[in-house]
Amino acid sequence: MADIHPEMHERRILGTELWWSFGVGVLIAAVLGMVIFTAVTMGMNPPSNVERIDPKTLHLSGEFAEHNLGTTVASDGSVTARIIATQFMFLPRCIAVPHRRRVTLRFATPDVIHGILVTGTNVNTMVVPGYVAQVHTEFMRTGDLLMPCHEYCGLGHSEMWATVQVLPENEFKPGPDGRISCAQR
Ligand code: CUA
Repeated sequence: MADIHPEMHERRILGTELWWSFGVGVLIAAVLGMVIFTAVTMGMNPPSNVERIDPKTLHLSGEFAEHNLGTTVASDGSVTARIIATQFMFLPRCIAVPHRRRVTLRFATPDVIHGILVTGTNVNTMVVPGYVAQVHTEFMRTGDLLMPCHEYCGLGHSEMWATVQVLPENEFKPGPDGRISCAQR
């Protein structure tokens, strides 16, 4: 280094630093661009619903009581599926949803943190004790989709999964009480 003029040395360092900041800048722009692109085109947003529920009593009465789980079509036509995530299963194990209609999924857990995703959709959320996790989606393809737990929740974690049955409109026929369960096939 003794034979390089100190000023040259300084400029070389500056040049390297500028290249690095350019590279990092491109990387940050690419990541931000990806976040915005998936949010706008695929509805990938962080779940932002803050709603409390008592994990000790949620199964006894109210929204997450056993008779109220699964899919319900309200009188205004809105579709809501309520699911309990518990060590180590989902209740119910299968939910029926309509094709190409807005569906609200609501999850709660009485025990530990679980995670939920539905393969091939934008549904991906944590289910934290004490809170209701809520996501909206529209299922664009008919057929059975896998809904595994994706947060390690104990020894039976890998056995914890459910099925989302996406039914075409002519098969999505709720009963007089507005409830519909998976078709037996
Ligand atoms: Cu529930 Cu892993």
